[in-house]
Amino acid sequence: MENRILEIKKTALSEVDKAFDLKSLEEVKNKYLSRASELNNLKKGLKDLPPEQRPKIGALTNEVSKEIESLINKKEEEFYTLELNKKLEKEKIDITLPSNFDKTGKVHPLTKTVNEIVEIFELLGFSLIKNEYAPEVETVKYNFDLLNTPKEHPARDVQDTFYSKLGENVVLRSQTSNSQVRQMLNSKPPVKIISPGRVYRSESVSARKNNLFHQIEGLYVDKGVTFSDLKGVLNEFIRLYFGSYRPTRFRNSFFPFTEPSAEVDVQCIMCEGKGCPTCSGTGWLEILGCGMVDPNVLKSVDIDPEIYSGFAFGMGVERLTMLKYAIDDIRLFFNNDVRFLNQF
Ligand code: DAH
Repeated sequence: MENRILEIKKTALSEVDKAFDLKSLEEVKNKYLSRASELNNLKKGLKDLPPEQRPKIGALTNEVSKEIESLINKKEEEFYTLELNKKLEKEKIDITLPSNFDKTGKVHPLTKTVNEIVEIFELLGFSLIKNEYAPEVETVKYNFDLLNTPKEHPARDVQDTFYSKLGENVVLRSQTSNSQVRQMLNSKPPVKIISPGRVYRSESVSARKNNLFHQIEGLYVDKGVTFSDLKGVLNEFIRLYFGSYRPTRFRNSFFPFTEPSAEVDVQCIMCEGKGCPTCSGTGWLEILGCGMVDPNVLKSVDIDPEIYSGFAFGMGVERLTMLKYAIDDIRLFFNNDVRFLNQF
Protein backbone atom coordinates (compact mmCIF):
# COMPACT_ATOMS: atom_id res chain seq x y z
CA MET A 1 0.00 0.00 0.00
CA GLU A 2 2.69 2.40 1.01
CA ASN A 3 4.62 1.63 -2.15
CA ARG A 4 1.60 2.22 -4.30
CA ILE A 5 1.10 5.64 -2.73
CA LEU A 6 4.73 6.57 -3.31
CA GLU A 7 4.42 5.35 -6.88
CA ILE A 8 1.38 7.53 -7.41
CA LYS A 9 3.34 10.44 -5.99
CA LYS A 10 6.20 9.82 -8.39
CA THR A 11 4.07 9.63 -11.54
CA ALA A 12 1.91 12.54 -10.43
CA LEU A 13 4.92 14.80 -9.84
CA SER A 14 6.46 13.85 -13.14
CA GLU A 15 3.17 14.49 -14.97
CA VAL A 16 2.82 17.89 -13.30
CA ASP A 17 6.31 18.62 -14.45
CA LYS A 18 5.41 17.69 -18.02
CA ALA A 19 2.23 19.79 -18.14
CA PHE A 20 2.81 22.58 -20.65
CA ASP A 21 -0.20 24.85 -20.19
CA LEU A 22 -3.19 25.49 -17.94
CA LYS A 23 -5.31 22.98 -19.79
CA SER A 24 -2.93 20.05 -19.52
CA LEU A 25 -2.28 20.95 -15.88
CA GLU A 26 -6.02 20.83 -15.24
CA GLU A 27 -6.09 17.28 -16.62
CA VAL A 28 -3.36 16.19 -14.21
CA LYS A 29 -5.20 17.85 -11.35
CA ASN A 30 -8.37 15.90 -12.17
CA LYS A 31 -6.50 12.67 -12.46
CA TYR A 32 -4.78 12.89 -9.06
CA LEU A 33 -6.88 15.13 -6.84
CA SER A 34 -10.52 14.69 -7.86
CA ARG A 35 -13.02 12.61 -5.91
CA ALA A 36 -12.64 9.78 -8.38
CA SER A 37 -8.81 9.78 -8.16
CA GLU A 38 -6.91 6.73 -6.99
CA LEU A 39 -5.59 8.61 -3.96
CA ASN A 40 -9.07 9.54 -2.89
CA ASN A 41 -10.22 5.96 -3.28
CA LEU A 42 -7.35 4.84 -1.08
CA LYS A 43 -8.45 7.34 1.53
CA LYS A 44 -11.97 5.96 1.37
CA GLY A 45 -10.56 2.42 1.83
CA LEU A 46 -8.64 3.31 5.02
CA LYS A 47 -11.45 1.97 7.17
CA ASP A 48 -10.88 -1.52 5.78
CA LEU A 49 -7.23 -1.55 6.88
CA PRO A 50 -6.09 -3.07 10.12
CA PRO A 51 -6.41 -0.32 12.76
CA GLU A 52 -2.69 -0.10 13.51
CA GLN A 53 -1.92 0.72 9.82
CA ARG A 54 -4.55 3.37 9.43
CA PRO A 55 -2.75 6.43 10.97
CA LYS A 56 0.42 5.89 8.99
CA ILE A 57 -1.25 5.27 5.64
CA GLY A 58 -3.78 8.02 6.31
CA ALA A 59 -1.03 10.52 7.05
CA LEU A 60 0.93 9.43 3.97
CA THR A 61 -2.01 9.82 1.56
CA ASN A 62 -2.74 13.27 3.01
CA GLU A 63 0.85 14.30 2.74
CA VAL A 64 1.12 13.07 -0.85
CA SER A 65 -2.09 14.80 -2.00
CA LYS A 66 -0.92 18.03 -0.34
CA GLU A 67 2.42 17.80 -2.05
CA ILE A 68 0.82 17.18 -5.44
CA GLU A 69 -1.66 20.00 -4.83
CA SER A 70 0.96 22.53 -3.84
CA LEU A 71 3.07 21.70 -6.86
CA ILE A 72 0.07 22.05 -9.13
CA ASN A 73 -0.80 25.41 -7.53
CA LYS A 74 2.70 26.68 -8.03
CA LYS A 75 2.75 25.61 -11.64
CA GLU A 76 -0.73 27.01 -12.19
CA GLU A 77 0.45 30.40 -11.00
CA GLU A 78 3.41 30.27 -13.35
CA PHE A 79 1.13 29.51 -16.29
CA TYR A 80 -1.22 32.36 -15.35
CA THR A 81 1.60 34.86 -15.29
CA LEU A 82 2.90 33.50 -18.56
CA GLU A 83 -0.47 33.75 -20.27
CA LEU A 84 -1.10 37.22 -18.86
CA ASN A 85 2.23 38.42 -20.16
CA LYS A 86 1.46 36.95 -23.56
CA LYS A 87 -1.91 38.72 -23.59
CA LEU A 88 -0.39 42.01 -22.49
CA GLU A 89 2.21 41.74 -25.18
CA LYS A 90 -0.46 41.15 -27.82
CA GLU A 91 -2.71 43.97 -26.60
CA LYS A 92 0.06 46.49 -26.28
CA ILE A 93 -1.39 50.00 -26.37
CA ASP A 94 0.43 52.75 -28.18
CA ILE A 95 -0.41 55.77 -26.05
CA THR A 96 1.13 58.10 -28.63
CA LEU A 97 -1.63 57.31 -31.16
CA PRO A 98 -4.30 60.03 -31.46
CA SER A 99 -7.44 59.15 -29.54
CA ASN A 100 -10.65 58.57 -31.47
CA PHE A 101 -12.87 59.46 -28.55
CA ASP A 102 -13.15 63.15 -29.38
CA LYS A 103 -16.93 63.22 -29.10
CA THR A 104 -17.29 66.82 -27.94
CA GLY A 105 -20.39 68.38 -29.48
CA LYS A 106 -19.87 71.28 -31.87
CA VAL A 107 -22.06 74.24 -32.64
CA HIS A 108 -23.47 73.98 -36.18
CA PRO A 109 -21.77 76.54 -38.48
CA LEU A 110 -25.10 78.20 -39.29
CA THR A 111 -25.93 78.58 -35.59
CA LYS A 112 -22.44 79.96 -35.09
CA THR A 113 -23.00 82.59 -37.78
CA VAL A 114 -26.44 83.52 -36.43
CA ASN A 115 -25.01 83.90 -32.92
CA GLU A 116 -22.16 86.05 -34.18
CA ILE A 117 -24.42 88.31 -36.24
CA VAL A 118 -27.00 88.70 -33.48
CA GLU A 119 -24.21 89.63 -31.09
CA ILE A 120 -22.92 92.31 -33.48
CA PHE A 121 -26.35 93.86 -33.88
CA GLU A 122 -26.96 93.77 -30.15
CA LEU A 123 -23.76 95.76 -29.83
CA LEU A 124 -25.30 98.27 -32.25
CA GLY A 125 -28.43 98.61 -30.10
CA PHE A 126 -30.77 96.06 -31.72
CA SER A 127 -32.80 93.54 -29.67
CA LEU A 128 -33.59 89.96 -30.55
CA ILE A 129 -37.23 89.57 -31.64
CA LYS A 130 -39.64 87.44 -29.58
CA ASN A 131 -40.28 84.04 -31.18
CA GLU A 132 -44.02 84.65 -31.30
CA TYR A 133 -43.48 87.49 -33.80
CA ALA A 134 -41.55 85.26 -36.20
CA PRO A 135 -43.64 82.15 -37.05
CA GLU A 136 -42.50 79.86 -39.84
CA VAL A 137 -46.03 78.80 -40.72
CA GLU A 138 -47.52 82.10 -41.74
CA THR A 139 -50.49 83.64 -43.48
CA VAL A 140 -50.31 85.49 -46.77
CA LYS A 141 -51.31 88.62 -44.86
CA TYR A 142 -48.01 88.83 -42.94
CA ASN A 143 -45.76 87.21 -45.53
CA PHE A 144 -47.00 89.48 -48.37
CA ASP A 145 -50.05 91.74 -47.96
CA LEU A 146 -48.85 93.98 -45.15
CA LEU A 147 -45.42 94.10 -46.79
CA ASN A 148 -46.80 96.01 -49.77
CA THR A 149 -46.48 92.94 -51.98
CA PRO A 150 -49.54 92.96 -54.23
CA LYS A 151 -51.30 89.84 -55.46
CA GLU A 152 -49.72 89.97 -58.90
CA HIS A 153 -46.19 90.17 -57.55
CA PRO A 154 -43.99 87.34 -58.90
CA ALA A 155 -42.73 86.51 -55.37
CA ARG A 156 -46.22 85.21 -54.59
CA ASP A 157 -46.03 82.70 -57.40
CA VAL A 158 -46.60 79.11 -56.28
CA GLN A 159 -43.22 78.25 -57.77
CA ASP A 160 -41.51 80.32 -55.10
CA THR A 161 -43.73 79.95 -52.08
CA PHE A 162 -44.90 76.76 -50.39
CA TYR A 163 -48.65 77.02 -49.99
CA SER A 164 -50.27 74.84 -47.37
CA LYS A 165 -53.12 72.40 -47.82
CA LEU A 166 -54.59 74.03 -44.70
CA GLY A 167 -55.86 76.80 -46.95
CA GLU A 168 -54.70 79.07 -49.73
CA ASN A 169 -53.78 81.77 -47.24
CA VAL A 170 -51.39 79.61 -45.26
CA VAL A 171 -47.75 79.48 -46.38
CA LEU A 172 -44.35 78.47 -45.11
CA ARG A 173 -42.82 81.92 -44.83
CA SER A 174 -40.62 82.76 -47.80
CA GLN A 175 -38.77 85.51 -45.93
CA THR A 176 -38.13 86.68 -42.37
CA SER A 177 -39.72 90.02 -43.33
CA ASN A 178 -43.01 88.74 -41.86
CA SER A 179 -41.52 89.46 -38.45
CA GLN A 180 -41.16 93.17 -39.30
CA VAL A 181 -44.88 93.71 -39.57
CA ARG A 182 -45.72 91.48 -36.62
CA GLN A 183 -43.26 93.45 -34.48
CA MET A 184 -44.62 96.84 -35.62
CA LEU A 185 -48.20 95.75 -35.00
CA ASN A 186 -47.27 94.84 -31.44
CA SER A 187 -45.06 97.73 -30.38
CA LYS A 188 -44.85 101.41 -31.13
CA PRO A 189 -41.61 103.10 -32.34
CA PRO A 190 -38.82 103.22 -31.55
CA VAL A 191 -38.55 99.67 -32.90
CA LYS A 192 -35.04 98.25 -33.32
CA ILE A 193 -35.05 94.49 -33.77
CA ILE A 194 -33.09 91.69 -35.33
CA SER A 195 -34.93 88.51 -36.36
CA PRO A 196 -33.09 85.34 -37.41
CA GLY A 197 -34.87 82.21 -38.60
CA ARG A 198 -35.74 79.61 -41.20
CA VAL A 199 -37.42 80.42 -44.49
CA TYR A 200 -38.71 78.16 -47.25
CA ARG A 201 -38.84 78.36 -51.01
CA SER A 202 -39.92 75.97 -53.68
CA GLU A 203 -36.64 75.78 -55.58
CA SER A 204 -34.83 72.92 -57.19
CA VAL A 205 -31.98 72.01 -54.88
CA SER A 206 -28.44 72.68 -56.12
CA ALA A 207 -25.01 73.64 -54.79
CA ARG A 208 -26.31 77.21 -54.45
CA LYS A 209 -29.95 76.74 -53.48
CA ASN A 210 -31.89 74.77 -50.92
CA ASN A 211 -35.64 74.65 -50.17
CA LEU A 212 -34.90 75.59 -46.59
CA PHE A 213 -32.44 78.29 -45.66
CA HIS A 214 -31.93 80.96 -43.01
CA GLN A 215 -32.24 84.71 -43.04
CA ILE A 216 -31.64 87.50 -40.59
CA GLU A 217 -33.99 90.43 -40.76
CA GLY A 218 -33.31 93.81 -39.23
CA LEU A 219 -35.66 96.73 -38.66
CA TYR A 220 -35.19 100.19 -37.20
CA VAL A 221 -38.11 102.61 -37.08
CA ASP A 222 -38.03 105.90 -35.23
CA LYS A 223 -38.28 109.62 -35.79
CA GLY A 224 -35.66 110.88 -38.23
CA VAL A 225 -34.08 107.57 -39.33
CA THR A 226 -32.24 108.14 -42.64
CA PHE A 227 -30.47 106.22 -45.36
CA SER A 228 -27.11 107.32 -43.89
CA ASP A 229 -28.06 105.55 -40.66
CA LEU A 230 -28.69 102.43 -42.71
CA LYS A 231 -25.30 102.73 -44.43
CA GLY A 232 -23.51 103.39 -41.16
CA VAL A 233 -25.05 100.39 -39.41
CA LEU A 234 -24.46 97.97 -42.31
CA ASN A 235 -20.88 99.08 -42.95
CA GLU A 236 -20.09 98.63 -39.28
CA PHE A 237 -21.76 95.22 -39.32
CA ILE A 238 -19.66 94.13 -42.32
CA ARG A 239 -16.45 95.33 -40.67
CA LEU A 240 -17.23 93.40 -37.49
CA TYR A 241 -18.45 90.25 -39.25
CA PHE A 242 -15.48 89.90 -41.61
CA GLY A 243 -13.04 91.02 -38.95
CA SER A 244 -11.57 94.06 -40.70
CA TYR A 245 -12.63 96.96 -42.89
CA ARG A 246 -13.94 95.86 -46.30
CA PRO A 247 -15.05 98.16 -49.08
CA THR A 248 -18.80 97.96 -49.78
CA ARG A 249 -21.12 99.33 -52.43
CA PHE A 250 -24.82 100.02 -52.18
CA ARG A 251 -26.43 99.14 -55.51
CA ASN A 252 -29.83 100.43 -56.55
CA SER A 253 -32.47 97.67 -56.38
CA PHE A 254 -36.14 96.94 -55.81
CA PHE A 255 -38.12 95.33 -52.99
CA PRO A 256 -41.86 95.89 -52.56
CA PHE A 257 -41.48 96.85 -48.90
CA THR A 258 -38.66 99.38 -49.18
CA GLU A 259 -38.26 102.65 -51.08
CA PRO A 260 -35.55 103.35 -52.03
CA SER A 261 -34.10 99.83 -52.03
CA ALA A 262 -30.53 98.67 -52.35
CA GLU A 263 -28.45 95.57 -52.51
CA VAL A 264 -25.17 95.64 -50.68
CA ASP A 265 -22.03 94.18 -52.20
CA VAL A 266 -18.83 93.59 -50.33
CA GLN A 267 -15.44 93.49 -52.01
CA CYS A 268 -14.70 89.87 -52.95
CA ILE A 269 -13.13 88.00 -50.02
CA MET A 270 -11.24 85.63 -52.33
CA CYS A 271 -9.56 88.02 -54.77
CA GLU A 272 -9.69 91.36 -52.91
CA GLY A 273 -11.61 92.88 -55.83
CA LYS A 274 -9.37 91.72 -58.66
CA GLY A 275 -12.00 89.41 -60.13
CA CYS A 276 -12.15 85.63 -59.73
CA PRO A 277 -14.59 82.70 -60.26
CA THR A 278 -16.24 83.25 -56.85
CA CYS A 279 -17.28 86.80 -57.79
CA SER A 280 -17.77 85.93 -61.49
CA GLY A 281 -14.98 88.32 -62.32
CA THR A 282 -16.76 91.40 -60.91
CA GLY A 283 -14.68 91.81 -57.76
CA TRP A 284 -17.90 92.16 -55.71
CA LEU A 285 -20.15 89.77 -53.76
CA GLU A 286 -23.77 90.54 -53.01
CA ILE A 287 -24.57 89.91 -49.36
CA LEU A 288 -27.88 91.50 -48.47
CA GLY A 289 -30.95 93.48 -49.45
CA CYS A 290 -32.08 96.62 -47.68
CA GLY A 291 -33.84 99.94 -47.95
CA MET A 292 -35.99 102.57 -46.30
CA VAL A 293 -39.28 101.07 -45.07
CA ASP A 294 -41.93 101.93 -47.67
CA PRO A 295 -44.52 104.43 -46.31
CA ASN A 296 -47.22 101.95 -47.40
CA VAL A 297 -45.82 99.34 -45.01
CA LEU A 298 -45.80 101.82 -42.13
CA LYS A 299 -49.41 102.77 -42.93
CA SER A 300 -50.46 99.11 -43.04
CA VAL A 301 -49.31 98.68 -39.44
CA ASP A 302 -50.73 102.00 -38.23
CA ILE A 303 -47.53 103.95 -37.98
CA ASP A 304 -47.68 107.47 -39.39
CA PRO A 305 -45.04 107.84 -42.15
CA GLU A 306 -45.22 111.62 -41.76
CA ILE A 307 -43.77 111.26 -38.26
CA TYR A 308 -41.70 108.10 -38.44
CA SER A 309 -39.26 106.60 -40.88
CA GLY A 310 -37.14 103.50 -40.79
CA PHE A 311 -34.82 101.12 -42.54
CA ALA A 312 -34.89 97.36 -42.95
CA PHE A 313 -32.52 94.73 -44.23
CA GLY A 314 -32.45 91.01 -44.85
CA MET A 315 -29.47 88.73 -45.32
CA GLY A 316 -28.92 85.06 -46.07
CA VAL A 317 -27.13 83.18 -43.29
CA GLU A 318 -25.89 80.34 -45.56
CA ARG A 319 -24.40 82.81 -48.03
CA LEU A 320 -22.58 84.75 -45.31
CA THR A 321 -21.24 81.53 -43.79
CA MET A 322 -20.14 80.21 -47.19
CA LEU A 323 -18.25 83.44 -47.90
CA LYS A 324 -16.52 83.52 -44.55
CA TYR A 325 -15.34 79.89 -44.63
CA ALA A 326 -15.03 79.44 -48.42
CA ILE A 327 -17.71 76.70 -48.56
CA ASP A 328 -18.83 75.93 -52.08
CA ASP A 329 -21.98 73.84 -51.61
CA ILE A 330 -25.01 74.91 -49.55
CA ARG A 331 -26.13 71.27 -49.17
CA LEU A 332 -23.19 70.61 -46.84
CA PHE A 333 -25.06 72.52 -44.10
CA PHE A 334 -27.94 70.06 -44.22
CA ASN A 335 -26.24 66.68 -44.72
CA ASN A 336 -25.03 66.44 -41.11
CA ASP A 337 -21.76 64.87 -42.14
CA VAL A 338 -19.58 65.06 -39.02
CA ARG A 339 -16.42 65.32 -41.14
CA PHE A 340 -17.76 68.69 -42.32
CA LEU A 341 -19.31 69.79 -39.04
CA ASN A 342 -16.19 69.00 -36.98
CA GLN A 343 -14.24 71.67 -38.84
CA PHE A 344 -16.07 74.50 -37.10
N1 DAH B 1 -36.99 89.72 -47.87
C1 DAH B 1 -35.97 89.91 -48.87
C2 DAH B 1 -35.68 88.59 -49.55
O1 DAH B 1 -36.01 87.56 -49.01
C3 DAH B 1 -34.73 90.47 -48.25
C4 DAH B 1 -34.90 91.87 -47.79
C5 DAH B 1 -34.65 92.91 -48.66
C6 DAH B 1 -35.36 92.13 -46.52
C7 DAH B 1 -34.80 94.21 -48.26
C8 DAH B 1 -35.53 93.45 -46.11
C9 DAH B 1 -35.26 94.47 -47.00
O2 DAH B 1 -35.97 93.78 -44.91
O3 DAH B 1 -35.44 95.77 -46.61
O4 DAH B 1 -35.10 88.57 -50.59
